[in-house]
Amino acid sequence: MIGTGAGVRGRAVTAATIAIAVLGLSVAGGRLSAAAGQQRASSGPLPETFGFGRPATPAAIAELDIDVMPDGTGLPPGSGTAADGAQTWGRACRGCHGPEGEGGTAAPVVGRDPSGRPLTVGNLWPYATTLYDYINRAMPRPTPGMLTPDQVYSLVAWILAKNEIIAEDAVMNAETLPAVVMPARDRFVPDDRRGGPEVR
Ligand code: HEC
Repeated sequence: MIGTGAGVRGRAVTAATIAIAVLGLSVAGGRLSAAAGQQRASSGPLPETFGFGRPATPAAIAELDIDVMPDGTGLPPGSGTAADGAQTWGRACRGCHGPEGEGGTAAPVVGRDPSGRPLTVGNLWPYATTLYDYINRAMPRPTPGMLTPDQVYSLVAWILAKNEIIAEDAVMNAETLPAVVMPARDRFVPDDRRGGPEVR
């Protein structure tokens, strides 16, 4: 009985082994031809083009290259005051951020408090130039990109004046904006932690 049983198992094992061997061969064959293909590609010179895409034009790059750095690098020509900004704010921003920037369906942008709360431009933002960058790239939702440089400068001036950071009649442009010192400038410190269990 034992012998017969072993024989049956033996046949089954043999059949399975053959099946695996056949499968193995075809997989190995596939790998072989893939490896051969790779070898051809890396040993020969690459083609000039791959037949898709097109060169990015300077205009297309300029459309995306809109970042403004903390020191003001990237700020475009143009200027604006809080009085100009009030107009645009009323049309494009107040619906979400409130008539005075106090917040509505979207975050408040006006507010000064020594506690640093709530997280408004006056309480949190360390660089005034970030306002230009952010409004220019992201506001107004849901149609960013529609504001002219003058409109963005004037909205920045309006928000800064409302936060009592600049005078009502101050002109914001590529020279004056980077010189604005934000109340939260010193609320940030370089992160010099080196890791370890105390760092979360
Ligand atoms: C359709 C609603 C909507 C409109 C209109 C809109 N915003 Fe916003 N805004 C948002 C949302 C949403 C956020 C992200 C923060 C939040 O979740 O509230 C935001 C964030 C901001 C912030 C950053 C606030 C912070 O400190 O986190 C600023 C500044 C800002 N918007 C300015 C503007 C300006 C200027 C306009 C007008 C040109 C404008 N927004 C129009 C919805 C809107």
